[in-house]
Amino acid sequence: MAVQRTFSIIKPDATRRNLTGKINALLEAGGLRIVAQKRIWMSRQQAETFYGVHKERPFFKSLVDFMTSGPVVVQVLEGEDAVAKNREIMGATNPANAAEGTIRKTFAESIEANSAHGSDSPENAAIEIAYFFSGSEIVG
Ligand code: CMP
Repeated sequence: MAVQRTFSIIKPDATRRNLTGKINALLEAGGLRIVAQKRIWMSRQQAETFYGVHKERPFFKSLVDFMTSGPVVVQVLEGEDAVAKNREIMGATNPANAAEGTIRKTFAESIEANSAHGSDSPENAAIEIAYFFSGSEIVG
């Protein structure tokens, strides 16, 4: 498997509890390299567009409220099979189903406040990275 890039968000529940370093330590220990990073406060419009694929889901408004409730850290991760690797390190969306030692099992508060987001495919990774970063902000 070739070197890939994926998109990652450290969510407001984690920034509020000062967990960005602990979460990134798990990503780095898993072999991923942070090649772009910024701390931002998403606007409603940014969050609605980013999560547009979920706009018909019952949790959409609550998700947008949550993602705009505090700062997030958006980042680009690089490594072998980075999309799948990041998802493995994060664990299942619902922390109740996440494996021991994963970010969500260790830190998440709920299925919504689940501490981290990661792209679900290389195609979506490219779209999500381009939504938050220009090429010159990514330094491998
Ligand atoms: P994320 O991987 O960022 O993608 C969509 C987000 O919606 C998910 O993590 C959760 O934060 C949130 N969410 C809230 N409720 C649900 C649900 N029932 N199923 C899936 N995702 C949910």
